[in-house]
Amino acid sequence: MEMSGKVAVITGGTSGIGRSTAEKLLERGATVLVLGRSRERGAEMEQLGNCHFYPCDMACPEEIAETCDAILRDYPEIDILVNNAGMSIDGTVETLSLEEWNQIFAVNVTSVYLMSKYLIPAIRKRGGGRIINIASTAGTVGAPGLDAYASTKGAVIQLTRSMAADYAAEGILVNAVCPGGTLTPLMCGIEANGSLDDFASLFPIKRLAQPEEIAAMIVFLASDAASFMAGSTVLVDGGFTCI
Ligand SMILES: NC(=O)c1ccc[n+]([C@@H]2O[C@H](COP(=O)([O-])OP(=O)(O)OC[C@H]3O[C@@H](n4cnc5c(N)ncnc54)[C@H](OP(=O)(O)O)[C@@H]3O)[C@@H](O)[C@H]2O)c1
Repeated sequence: MEMSGKVAVITGGTSGIGRSTAEKLLERGATVLVLGRSRERGAEMEQLGNCHFYPCDMACPEEIAETCDAILRDYPEIDILVNNAGMSIDGTVETLSLEEWNQIFAVNVTSVYLMSKYLIPAIRKRGGGRIINIASTAGTVGAPGLDAYASTKGAVIQLTRSMAADYAAEGILVNAVCPGGTLTPLMCGIEANGSLDDFASLFPIKRLAQPEEIAAMIVFLASDAASFMAGSTVLVDGGFTCI
């Protein structure tokens, strides 16, 4: 899966699944633009070479607009957009505050809309490309105590299908990846509760994923090998949703 000459933008590219995806695309020769809030981890990514960090808070639509302007000044044509940045806040509809609800929708859903809105014209200039939206198994089945998070991921899946239908004829292929439990900092809350083994036991595969195992699917969808995929929701979940 040679990627030299390709320009890829990854939101949340400073950690976990996004970072692993950036590393794999860099290994294959792509130029990778990573977005995130952590300047320290952004600088670490830049040390990998051919990787450029754009600081951006995905909860802030104005920052997203300014960052996309900067990206387009530097790279007027883009091949791959991975909408990966995401956050989770535990809670039911009773315990979640409206502020928390709005924050998680801003980061997990509105950023996908805005990044796609601003960067699709640059993908069109290339004559087509790939958008991969990172959803979750929580967008496909109920997730007790994660009411807002699950709602955002369901929205990402539906947005993916609609965008795929809008843009497939132009060669802009949009798909979603739904990771199951993956060992990243996002999992820290569970680890802090000492229940990581209990969580892993819920998966037929009896373990959680490494970020590289999710990144492998993202890279496949970004590659020429996935030339007939549009609007798919690809579960990479160790069998979590098959039982
Ligand atoms: N880990 C899992 O088990 C799992 C399962 C299903 C789906 N997912 C999804 O996979 C995606 C990646 O998660 P991960 O597990 O790799 O988590 P992670 O290691 O915590 O990484 C999250 C990334 O999102 C960025 N981010 C979060 N809030 C942001 C904000 N307000 N503005 C800008 N960037 C922000 C972070 O960058 P900064 O810290 O630099 O801001 C970081 O790079 C998410 O969409 C998540 O919902 C994860």
